[in-house]
Amino acid sequence: MDQKIVYDFDTVVSRTGTHSEKYEARERLFGTAEVEPFWVADMDLPTPGFLVDKLCERLDHPMFGYTGQYDAVFDAIGWWMESQHGAMVERAWISLSPSVVTSISVAVQTMTQPGDSVVLLSPVYGPFYSFTQINDRKIADCPLRVEQGRFEMDWPTLEGLLIRPDVTLLLLSNPHNPGGRVWSAAELARLARLCAANGVTLFSDEIHCDIVYPPHRHTSMLTIDEGRGSCIVAHSIGKTFNASGLQASFTIIPDQALRKRFRAGLERTHASDVNLLGKVALAAALSPAGADYKRQLVAYLRENTLQVCGKLKTLDDVDVMVPEATYLVWCDFRKCGPWGEVLQRLIHEAGVALSGGTFFGPAGEGWFRINCAHPRSLLLPAVDRIVAEFNSHGND
Ligand SMILES: Cc1ncc(COP(=O)(O)O)c(C=O)c1O
Repeated sequence: MDQKIVYDFDTVVSRTGTHSEKYEARERLFGTAEVEPFWVADMDLPTPGFLVDKLCERLDHPMFGYTGQYDAVFDAIGWWMESQHGAMVERAWISLSPSVVTSISVAVQTMTQPGDSVVLLSPVYGPFYSFTQINDRKIADCPLRVEQGRFEMDWPTLEGLLIRPDVTLLLLSNPHNPGGRVWSAAELARLARLCAANGVTLFSDEIHCDIVYPPHRHTSMLTIDEGRGSCIVAHSIGKTFNASGLQASFTIIPDQALRKRFRAGLERTHASDVNLLGKVALAAALSPAGADYKRQLVAYLRENTLQVCGKLKTLDDVDVMVPEATYLVWCDFRKCGPWGEVLQRLIHEAGVALSGGTFFGPAGEGWFRINCAHPRSLLLPAVDRIVAEFNSHGND
């Protein structure tokens, strides 16, 4: 009988010497390396051993030449999307891609014309902005509203934007980064209906969809009938398995004409494949063993985010969004003073490097995002330092 694996997320594993961007970019981004990094969305928790073993097994063979599209990768993606997200996916709908951001850029290039506008529900993951603008398209910003501590879509504004002839693409973070919002099936159906009625392609970036906290459940755009003809869904093993450095991502597009357009763009950029180790990792991760790892990981992260929110909620001047998904906590520090001063206090007094809100667009001004995917023995003392620094009752 198989021994049940219990994953250890508590042991601190040093990333020194591993070229981790999260650590190595501290000096450049925060002006000091003497700061604990809770910024970029990768985890300081280990990739599961069974996945590492598969990579090592492949590395035992000394040749790393060109690789074909092997079936196991497509079978694994199909199995994962059906078993974890209730989405039936035909193999022909799947395209590989080095990263979700690559797919975003290709979607902008293929689904819009220069000068067109792309709808973003802000604040949202920074490359949604940069890859729209790099491709000479305009942003049609539709700020999310904060209602009772969670993000809501602004339907009247959205309807007004989607009807415009220059608006041809909407980029959705589903679930939402940085707000940790799980969009409901009803919201997604309404959005899909609006996009379809106005000839707007809906790009549903579902990279965070595996890290969802009960009772919330992820709804893939693939399961929304209204989205079938106009959606591109993107996913990756980057977040769930802490494998962003392996660059293993994929898109799923049910509509044949849309898929043809998108794929032609991927191929023009020579970006329609995943590297050898990425394929090994995809085939290994998206499996029953991967689902078991994910289940344990989500339980650990849920407790982390709850404890972090509990601590920050003791602060009068900081408002937090309790995430329904993602290991990220979005915090409003606007009452604590000017943004630059708050940043300096976080870095130099609390000793933490957080993601600054403006990375997520102008709507993020004054906000910070905390990455909670760390062993608790490091994460919780860091949050205690933030609390001590911003406690308006003060010790002085
Ligand atoms: C919403 C979202 N999309 C995409 C990415 C990046 O994905 P990739 O590394 O596959 O480009 C991130 C990373 O934080 C993200 O939060």
